[in-house]
Amino acid sequence: MTDISDERPPLQQALARSRDPGMLSFGLGLPAAELFPMVELREASEAVFEAGPLNIQYNAPVPRLKEHIVQMMKLRGVSCTEDEVFLTSGAQQGLSLLAQLLCSSTGDRIGVNEVFYPGLRQVLGPSATIFAAIPRELAAPDDVRRLREALKGGSSASLAFLYAMSVGHNPLGLTMEARMREALVGCAKELQVSIVEDDVYGFLQYGADAAPPLRALDAHNVYYIGSFSKLIAPALRVGWIVAPRHAIARLSVLKEGSDLDVATVAQGIVCRYLDSHPLMERIEFLRKQYRARRDAMHEALLKHLPQAQWTRPSAGFYFWVESAAFGNTTALLKSAVDHNVIFIPGSAFSATDDPRHDLSVRLSFSSCPIGSIDEGIGRIAALQRSPVALHTSH
Ligand SMILES: Cc1ncc(COP(=O)(O)O)c(C=O)c1O
Repeated sequence: MTDISDERPPLQQALARSRDPGMLSFGLGLPAAELFPMVELREASEAVFEAGPLNIQYNAPVPRLKEHIVQMMKLRGVSCTEDEVFLTSGAQQGLSLLAQLLCSSTGDRIGVNEVFYPGLRQVLGPSATIFAAIPRELAAPDDVRRLREALKGGSSASLAFLYAMSVGHNPLGLTMEARMREALVGCAKELQVSIVEDDVYGFLQYGADAAPPLRALDAHNVYYIGSFSKLIAPALRVGWIVAPRHAIARLSVLKEGSDLDVATVAQGIVCRYLDSHPLMERIEFLRKQYRARRDAMHEALLKHLPQAQWTRPSAGFYFWVESAAFGNTTALLKSAVDHNVIFIPGSAFSATDDPRHDLSVRLSFSSCPIGSIDEGIGRIAALQRSPVALHTSH
């Protein structure tokens, strides 16, 4: 077993312990490994190598993969062309390149939700500041005015971009209503600030009506990020940006700085996989699998933590659960790990000092076996009620 040092942030603690034998992990948002299309990917890899040495030469990004992505974007209600698609090494590199593209060297502000995907912080320079600008939802009719004020953030320092997840938010698990999407895109346009839209869970929606991304509403101001990590496999490191045409050449220069823009072997594998396997079938399969896990977690929460608050996610991998009975969830994680269950404390995602985030947890249902979800939630519930009793029962 790996030792947990108090110095390490909760995310790293979770990473280090999630593979311990017997550990039930609701920590990281890993896609379920047993659902990876192993045979098909092996065939696709062989085809790439059989096609000859030029396939592993310095090369331009795979054009046919861009054609596939244009078709995929149509499924998301977005019309774009191949010359607006820029291939990246996963969504994370997309974020990094867009941060470099949109931030100035002298300091910038980035507007996010009150809690946000921590990988954003890692791509920002030291002079960038993050502030909570985007509300969870629009409730009252005058909220659009308040949204506009919040986006300005009361500061004259330049606003580099807004980072938004309109579908399957990580960590909130929320999908924006149409009114919120329209207001956000409208206000950003009015303030002439770009939106970086992270849509890594956009294809994993579990209801009958799939919400379109913000990019479907605005082709000029929204930079869209997609990824094959959750749809095919993350270690392939293939993702994409849909950006206004004028930004593509600059993105290419930025990407050359990190990998010469030739992560083309993995692009070839994904492309060949998509050539011979209809993506829609895979997406339907994944939706069914993850929907069942989502439902199992919802049932387990109702059973074990009825006093807590959460919204059942209609997309993505996460429940955001808040309960005064948790106490401080960073402290709760320490005892949870001792009882073989992992989650991420809400404060790990916080853009503010809101004490409510200390009473919250993010629970990922994506990679825990469905038959163990009830047991894992039961363990967390027992800990918050009576940590001593649980200790003695082991
Ligand atoms: C919101 C969000 N953005 C980006 C990423 C990184 O994805 P990729 O593997 O495509 O780099 C993740 C991974 O979990 C994520 O949850």
